[in-house]
Amino acid sequence: MTAVSRDNRPDIADLLAFYASAGVDEALEEEPVNRFAEAASKPAERAPATVTPTGGSAALPRSTSVSRAEMGERPGAAPVARAQSATATVPDEQQAALARQLATRAASLDELRQHMAAFDGCNLKFTAKNLVFADGNPNAAVMLVGEAPERDEDIEGLPFVGRSGRLLDRMLAAIGLDRTSAYIANVIPWRPPGNRTPTPHETEICRPFIERQIELVNPKVLVNLGGLSANTLLNTTEAILRLRGNWRVHTTAAGIAIPAMPTLHPAYLLRTPAHKKLAWRDFLEVKAKLRALG
Ligand code: URA
Repeated sequence: MTAVSRDNRPDIADLLAFYASAGVDEALEEEPVNRFAEAASKPAERAPATVTPTGGSAALPRSTSVSRAEMGERPGAAPVARAQSATATVPDEQQAALARQLATRAASLDELRQHMAAFDGCNLKFTAKNLVFADGNPNAAVMLVGEAPERDEDIEGLPFVGRSGRLLDRMLAAIGLDRTSAYIANVIPWRPPGNRTPTPHETEICRPFIERQIELVNPKVLVNLGGLSANTLLNTTEAILRLRGNWRVHTTAAGIAIPAMPTLHPAYLLRTPAHKKLAWRDFLEVKAKLRALG
């Protein structure tokens, strides 16, 4: 065994670097909490563990305490079932069904945003700082859908404002677009902790919201940024490197067919710049389609 001298021992900076590389880049509380000590000293007073939609235990989430008006329910409309109380054991399917119900009832983007803000059925909400709903022009001909917010987006409450967002802005500019002529959203509106990939359960729970958002925006052309967006919205399990560059169709609940271009995610392009030329071709396709559709 190698002897570790006192000077070579890992210090707090190494530990923090290790956490950062593992994706642990946020403190959830002001002060550290020793949950083991808490459990040992006060077993009877422990807060009931909440079973999250993905089956794991989570800290007690905020409860849904908004009024019907805040929920965006129209006067006279039948009440919408609420997210289960914080301590209930809730199967994912029940939350997905509730998300579908809320999404269908949203008659406008504002109502949809309010329903999403009041929805407690996705565990990601409880570690995120903000709901990241959308940015850009809801009357635009083109809508781009990414995966999920990262740190910068979570802080600002807007999609694609970090490093990938700056690349996305350059990609849009290359075909004569910007955030006044494009609408941008994500499949998942809450940041997954440490930017991990959203689970299939989380994706299924959030899917009705983005589908309704697309339906309400009703763009002429949809752009799917990355595999999760393409797979979730284009009803395929094919890999993004096979899908990209080929027109597909996103069909709304009302049966409207929207041409969709799957392309590479800007975060992937930052890691794999050699593939920027592929995304460039895809964006030229989008530009040509927008011109053809008038
Ligand atoms: N990646 C995404 O998919 N969406 C964002 O908003 C930011 C990074």
